[in-house]
This record gives sequence, structure tokens and C-alpha cells, in this order.
Amino acid sequence: MSSVVLVLNGPNLNRLGTREPEIYGSTTFAQLADLCVAQAEANGLEADVRQTNDEAELIGWLHEAADKNLPVVLNPAAFTHYSYAVRDACAMLTAPLIEVHLSNPAAREEFRHNSVISGVATGTIAGFGVDSYRMAIEQIARITG
Ligand code: DQA
Repeated sequence: MSSVVLVLNGPNLNRLGTREPEIYGSTTFAQLADLCVAQAEANGLEADVRQTNDEAELIGWLHEAADKNLPVVLNPAAFTHYSYAVRDACAMLTAPLIEVHLSNPAAREEFRHNSVISGVATGTIAGFGVDSYRMAIEQIARITG
């Protein structure tokens, strides 16, 4: 049985494909989920890909990851920049956490320059579109393998 990696996605990422494609690309969320599952399989892992627009639901999933000692790839979306509650939930994780972004927030508006999540992540991968997720899953396999 392969070990599970949770791939968690925050608000508005369900709109991928039509949401500002010049920034986030034309891959839909369903396609992104498939690609994560395929990448995980190639690395001997099983990806459980989820998305929510609800901060409480995301925090519940992080608690689940903490309780089960699961590694997490997290795109916190806009929560990245202001959610201390998501950060505190991330701080409880016991397995590696990789923060991912499709775009490079550091090269965008000022309010995106700060991540409240980065300080409790194992590492951050940003700016490579859906490849950010591929690289993060590969890295989870390396660290946990
Ligand atoms: C994002 C970047 C965030 O600033 C933004 O709020 C998102 C997506 C990204 O993947 O590039 O929703 O996390």
C-alpha cells in the first residue's frame, strides 16, 4: 500500500481554467487533480487532492493531517497572506509541509509578498504553474521515502 500525500487547495482554486488564465494558466482544477494523482503514482505515493473555499474546512483537513502524520502539499491561495488560523494549523503538522503557488506572489501586488504560512512550511515552490505541484510531490517523495 502506498503512502498518502494530502494535496490541499484553498479558495477560488476550483475556478482554475477560467480564473485569470493569463496568471493561473488554462489547466482546470480537475486536470490539476489528475496530474497530481499521476505524479504521486510515479513517485510511489497516493495523492488525496481536495479543494475548499471554506477556511474552517481547510483547518479541519490540516488537523486530520496532523492526527494521521500525513505529508501535505498546500496551496493556501489568498489565505497565504492573512490567515493566522491556517498558519497555526500548519504549525501542528508532524510530517513535511510544502507550500505551493501557481504564480509567483513575490512578483505580484504588494499584499501578496508576505506569506504567513512560509515560516511553518518545510519549503515553498512558486511560479511554475501546475509544475509547482509536480515538484512539490516529487520532493515529498524524496523527504519521506
Ligand atoms: C495563489 C497566489 C495567491 O496570491 C492567490 O490569492 C491565489 C493563488 C497561486 O497559486 O498563485 O488564490 O496561491
